[in-house]
Amino acid sequence: MLRSEALPYRKVASMAFAPLRFRGVPRRSRLVVIAVFCLCALLSLPRHDLSIGKTLAFFLFGPGLAGSHGHGGPRVDILRFVDPLIGTANGGHVFPGASLPYGMAKAVADTRSPAENAAGFVSDHHQIIGFSHMHDSGTGGNPSLGNFPLFVHPGCLEDDYAKCDYSVLYRGTNRIPGSAYASPGYFSINTTNGVHAEMTATEHAALYRFTFPGTDTINVTGFEDQPRESRIVPYSPLIVIDTLDLSGSRQNGTFAIDPDTGRATASGRYGPSFGQGFYDAYFCADFRGAEIRNTGTFLVQNATVTPKHAKIVYSMGSAGTWVQFQKPEDHTILARVGVSFISVDKACANAEKEIPDFSFLRVEKAAREVWSEKLGAVEVDATGVSEELQTTFWSGLYRTLLSPQNYTGENQLWNSSEPYFDSFYCIWDSFRAQHPLLSIIDPEAQTEMVRTLVDIYRHEGKLPDCRMSFCKGYTQGGSNADIVIADAFLKNLTAGIDWDTAYEAVVSDAEEEPAHWGAEGRGNLVSWHELGYIPRDDNDVNGTGPFSRTISRGVEYAYDDFCISFLAQGLGHTNDASKYFLRGGNWANYWNPRQRDVYRDNRDEVMQTNFTGFMQPRLSDGTFTYQNTRTCSPVHDTHSCYYDTGFDTYEGSPWLYSFFVPQDMSALIKLMGGPSRFVKRLNFFHTSGISYMGNEQGFLPVYQFHYAGRPALSSYWTHQYIPSLFNATVNGIPGNDDCAMGAFSAFAMMGFFPVAGQDVYLLSTPFFPEVRIRAKIPGKWAVIRTKNFDPERKAIYIQSAKLNGRRYDLNWISHEFFLKGGVLELEVGAEEGTWGTGEGDVPPSYATWEEGDEPENLKIIGQGQGVEGDLDEGGEVGIGAGLEAGGFYV
Ligand SMILES: *[C@@H]1O[C@H](CO)[C@@H](O)[C@H](O)[C@H]1NC(C)=O
Ligand SMILES: *[C@@H]1O[C@H](CO)[C@@H](O)[C@H](O)[C@H]1NC(C)=O
Ligand SMILES: *[C@@H]1O[C@H](CO)[C@@H](O)[C@H](O)[C@H]1NC(C)=O
Ligand SMILES: *[C@@H]1O[C@H](CO)[C@@H](O)[C@H](O)[C@H]1NC(C)=O
Ligand SMILES: *[C@@H]1O[C@H](CO)[C@@H](O)[C@H](O)[C@H]1NC(C)=O
Ligand SMILES: *[C@@H]1O[C@H](CO)[C@@H](O)[C@H](O)[C@H]1NC(C)=O
Ligand SMILES: *[C@@H]1O[C@H](CO)[C@@H](O)[C@H](O)[C@H]1NC(C)=O
Ligand SMILES: *[C@@H]1O[C@H](CO)[C@@H](O)[C@H](O)[C@H]1NC(C)=O
Ligand SMILES: *[C@@H]1O[C@H](CO)[C@@H](O)[C@H](O)[C@H]1NC(C)=O
Repeated sequence: MLRSEALPYRKVASMAFAPLRFRGVPRRSRLVVIAVFCLCALLSLPRHDLSIGKTLAFFLFGPGLAGSHGHGGPRVDILRFVDPLIGTANGGHVFPGASLPYGMAKAVADTRSPAENAAGFVSDHHQIIGFSHMHDSGTGGNPSLGNFPLFVHPGCLEDDYAKCDYSVLYRGTNRIPGSAYASPGYFSINTTNGVHAEMTATEHAALYRFTFPGTDTINVTGFEDQPRESRIVPYSPLIVIDTLDLSGSRQNGTFAIDPDTGRATASGRYGPSFGQGFYDAYFCADFRGAEIRNTGTFLVQNATVTPKHAKIVYSMGSAGTWVQFQKPEDHTILARVGVSFISVDKACANAEKEIPDFSFLRVEKAAREVWSEKLGAVEVDATGVSEELQTTFWSGLYRTLLSPQNYTGENQLWNSSEPYFDSFYCIWDSFRAQHPLLSIIDPEAQTEMVRTLVDIYRHEGKLPDCRMSFCKGYTQGGSNADIVIADAFLKNLTAGIDWDTAYEAVVSDAEEEPAHWGAEGRGNLVSWHELGYIPRDDNDVNGTGPFSRTISRGVEYAYDDFCISFLAQGLGHTNDASKYFLRGGNWANYWNPRQRDVYRDNRDEVMQTNFTGFMQPRLSDGTFTYQNTRTCSPVHDTHSCYYDTGFDTYEGSPWLYSFFVPQDMSALIKLMGGPSRFVKRLNFFHTSGISYMGNEQGFLPVYQFHYAGRPALSSYWTHQYIPSLFNATVNGIPGNDDCAMGAFSAFAMMGFFPVAGQDVYLLSTPFFPEVRIRAKIPGKWAVIRTKNFDPERKAIYIQSAKLNGRRYDLNWISHEFFLKGGVLELEVGAEEGTWGTGEGDVPPSYATWEEGDEPENLKIIGQGQGVEGDLDEGGEVGIGAGLEAGGFYV
């Protein structure tokens, strides 16, 4: 009944759209922007690589601290600033092992670390249970992949193969504390059973080097069942080859060992770690360095010499093959493991092709060269910058390139000449910083990823929101691949992308509800189209999914639609552009202007702040219901808003989601009471503990001060969070990495941050005197130079800026800078200046909502849904309690 009245502003917005209205940048500045970028091509002057500071640092400290490896400058091995172990404790779930950029083979030691070993290895004290060859990095969900682990015994008790431990339940060994070492393309660790294990990797194969003490007997300690016991074993190594994966998801499998060559092969069907369905994986291992003494198979703990191959139809336990060796000549055994998602033959062929020579040195060197080249898209002058900060920076950039993984040529689902990347895990996390960063530093890879998304749509009927191991993962919020695709379009990634199909794919997200929207597309679309929001009491007859997250899905659907309108506009679908632009205003339907921020303080007294107006859930008749504004923030019920827990927000609070209006910050700022109230509110968000930087939605609010003309505060907060939450310790990431936490710190340290889905980067003070980024145009660089750079990080406020020598007042730049190159000079000082504070200096907002739209809306809300009702409904405080606390009466 409220359908036509509930959303009076839609009319206004529809008039507003003709064409996209560019707000915040008045006409005059727009011309300036255009002029500046025309000049930038002409003026990108050659630069001197050795600035005075750098030269001085070079003389004082040598090339290490001079930092740059720019053209002609001293070449510094930037890989020494990459520490892959960062984020391997404290829930970071980072994969620290050997991998190439986007590599399918990812070798590491797997640890038995409950709830923490999502990527295999954890920097803790749990046992090593094997070495395996495929992983994901930084994910939540169950442990990922880890199929076909090898476990190495230096010998078996009484020289009896049957007395070695085979099952994952018993075969653990402790590690030597502090022995884990990692660098790009290399990982090593020492275990208390006397083995020194090293590993390196190519695209689809891993090479292990196991070194033994060399003595006739070995004192083996640290068993799973008898941690304090020690056993003396004779030297005769035995390698166990299990068909389990890390999460024990194997359904069936096959395994075989060739008694003559020792070649071990296996296959299995497994479950994905945060999704539905299954995938098949294949394995092939060859060994060098020692004579084969004996081979066989095992089931759980029982090993036998025959049979040499077997099939598991259904079994939950360890099962596989083993190979026992004579004493190795030089006390070293090499294990070369090929993996594939196509067949055992392909797994063997991958290994033979990529590591024909078993040369550990060559493979490791090749991996380092690939990493150097990839990371070489960025150069810094690190004069005066601590080793720790440099390590934070380069390691974050490195992690951004670990995943999605390149499974091109390994797609087990369909034949296609298109690239196939996997482990979009999840786009909900990665669209905000990781994909925008790849668009700058590795546009070719990002283009292949976008082509993959389009090909997935072609073959599966929907774009993924989350995908791993050829399976559909769970959709956390909106259909945010729409944003990735629009972003690629705006950033000029064109080569080979079929934009017509890409457009069809995003329109399918926006228009057609799938039967099971928990794993693709969107839910509640009929209401979304007719009411402009997802009602809390929606009766969705078109599809099923976990009915929750009405606010967070809603603000994301609105932004997805807004981004689709850009694509529609760019591809000439002008009617669609208006339609999606209108839907991009649906965020405002969640805005309850009277919602108070009520909470209990640490004396358990009911308090409220004077921030009024929050995104709130709504019923189908238009009335608002209530979710406490702080629920699912670190200060209140932190862990209650997941996929299917029934709350209206996902992994965050209404406080957080009330800031998610990147398309129309100008309107949001008005609703929040104007720029100064908005800045107070955003500052309160960061100081009150409500903000959480361990999840990706936390990134943009660090920079949203820009929209209120206070870019200095964005610089202030980036310098607060780095290094206090993003640093070079193994704990150094505030949440699971998702290959995204590192993208945030890398962006922030370079001095800009993307508004994903728009051609906008918000400028802040870099952590380096100079950052150079390889531009799309060959030979050009985008250079960001910090004038008056302060190594003490006290002068962190931009005072003035010049783009290619011309005064630049906007507090944001566009992607053209990274396409064509140029020089952006930022002069910094210790006090907030006036740079970027003018009304015309702020980033664009698009008029999806207008002042004057709210009165009718307010009337509807006023009908019996005041604050008292809200408090009661939320069960947070009793009716009137807010009043007793000296609060407000509405
Ligand atoms: C690990 O083992 C190797 C080879 O035995 C040895 O050189 C190295 O010192 C050991 N490292 C630690 C930390 O124990
Ligand atoms: C084996 O090592 C353990 C732990 O270091 C030690 O307590 C034990 O004495 C050693 N046994 C022999 C026979 O050396
Ligand atoms: C597992 O079972 C499925 C279904 O019966 C079969 O298609 C597949 O080949 C089996 N996989 C292995 C590795 O045995
Ligand atoms: C292992 O062998 C023991 C003794 O022969 C037997 O009781 C047990 O059932 C076997 N376990 C498996 C999993 O085959
Ligand atoms: C992905 O793998 C394919 C096949 O190996 C290769 O041709 C392509 O260059 C790779 N893409 C990237 C971005 O590395
Ligand atoms: C962006 O892409 C278009 C189409 O490929 C091309 O014409 C244009 O020159 C590109 N712009 C830049 C700045 O590279
Ligand atoms: C919902 O289902 C109806 C009936 O099948 C169909 O006509 C309509 O297009 C569907 N709407 C959406 C948004 O999928
Ligand atoms: C609430 O607003 C009043 C007046 O605007 C101000 O004096 C007071 O400090 C504010 N309180 C809080 C907690 O922000
Ligand atoms: C490093 O970051 C972690 C995670 O955010 C944080 O807990 C820790 O206190 C930080 N350490 C330092 C030394 O700043």
